[in-house]
Amino acid sequence: MKQKYAYIHTIGCQMNVYDSGRIQNGLQSLHYRTAASMETADLIILNTCTIRDKAEQKAYSFLGRTARLKRKNPDLIIGVGGCVAQQEGEKILRQMPYLDFVFGTHAIGRLAGIVARIESRRCRIVDTDLTDIIDELRGETEPEADLSPSRFVTIMRGCDNFCSYCVVPYVRGRESSRHPRHILQEIRRLVAGGVREVTLLGQNVNSYGLKEALPSFAELLSEVNAVPGLLRIRFTTSHPKDLSEDLVAAFGRLEKLCRHIHLPVQSGSDRILKRMNRRYTRQEYLQKVERLRQACPGIAVTSDIIVGFPGETDADFQQTLDIIRQADFDNIFVFSYSDRPSAPSARLSGKITETQKNRRLQTVLALQEEITLQKNQALVGSTVEILVDGFSKKQNGKGGSGNSETVQWTGRTSTHRIVNFIQTAGGVEIRRNYSGRLLDVRIEQALPHSLWGRAAGLESDFQRLKGEKSYAA
Ligand code: 5AD
Ligand code: SF4
Repeated sequence: MKQKYAYIHTIGCQMNVYDSGRIQNGLQSLHYRTAASMETADLIILNTCTIRDKAEQKAYSFLGRTARLKRKNPDLIIGVGGCVAQQEGEKILRQMPYLDFVFGTHAIGRLAGIVARIESRRCRIVDTDLTDIIDELRGETEPEADLSPSRFVTIMRGCDNFCSYCVVPYVRGRESSRHPRHILQEIRRLVAGGVREVTLLGQNVNSYGLKEALPSFAELLSEVNAVPGLLRIRFTTSHPKDLSEDLVAAFGRLEKLCRHIHLPVQSGSDRILKRMNRRYTRQEYLQKVERLRQACPGIAVTSDIIVGFPGETDADFQQTLDIIRQADFDNIFVFSYSDRPSAPSARLSGKITETQKNRRLQTVLALQEEITLQKNQALVGSTVEILVDGFSKKQNGKGGSGNSETVQWTGRTSTHRIVNFIQTAGGVEIRRNYSGRLLDVRIEQALPHSLWGRAAGLESDFQRLKGEKSYAA
């Protein structure tokens, strides 16, 4: 039988990255291998995002490219999954005759069956069923054979918050949490496969388990913390209104929990927060940040900001700049407000022009860059612990004594800062794999988005092994 190849393209958030891992697992059961490019694939799957208009446009432009490939190879199978698929369903299939199937956010567990059916008798399939959420959430990801020791693990799906600008509650459906038993099983298996850091994913992890009367999120964290061999735990995203005192305390209590929280504020203006239906005030938000910093000194706080929400005046925008300074964020993601037809804010008056939105976006970016750079500069000269993620570059040069190899390693601090460092080995082949190890790195240089350092432990390790000429991990 001819070897089959699948190409998966992912647009959007970490939840989609996680889902693409599960799509890949499903296809493995049908003996698909990963294709090196779209051009060499027998099956192309696009995992889409609809949170902002730009993401949706990216999906349509990718599909345009697949149409050209299908013209050359009519046997090619093309499928669309994710949020655009869930939202548009059959409509996409009708608009795009070259598409074979559309599968929604809850159909990943059924994907292998869908593809098998199309392989055996060419038909077109739409599956946007939202019913079997809990069963489907039992699906797990396999550790892949790449070097990264970090993985995402979905702990809940959907959202009940209905922020007025957001499509998630309409597309991904109501909140539902996975059972801790399944989450822990998945994490243990990942750790056995070499994973050292997990990021627990949910739209609003603070309300984990509430509906199902499962253990609370803080309790789940304690159980994950007890998994042997796991070195670090992260989670995202938290809604500020639900940030519990228990969770704040967990930062001081659990040694594996990284000193970082992503706590999207969205706006610094109470008036806009109200229109966004965020259900907290700027003062309440700042109080939560203060509590986090008391319980966990040095904790990094990052955030999401939307600029140009309908009705946002200059004064409102100044309040946003002000809260960025006051909260002293370690980093932020800034988004220009995008009208989504299914979100209630699409019907609000006072729409801001693209030019104005863009100007505000640039102002926020410049302000945050200044703050982040200052924070990074303050770290120069200190030693930080990083989890090595892998090497980002490997070069072979001609050294005086033969082959000289330079490896640029990359990792993250507990506070989620990227640290790069170089290992040079005059005349020695570097084969030691440091990924998944915790290393102390002395910071030598600060850049706006990363840090440069030297890993003392690694250098002495290297000196010790240098005599061997070539060494393996
Ligand atoms: N327009 C702009 N940004 C949005 N986000 C969600 N919906 C929209 C929208 N319609 C941003 C929010 C959220 C992040 C994931 O995406 O900041 O926290
Ligand atoms: Fe969207 Fe608000 Fe839910 Fe986040 S909390 S997914 S922004 S509705």
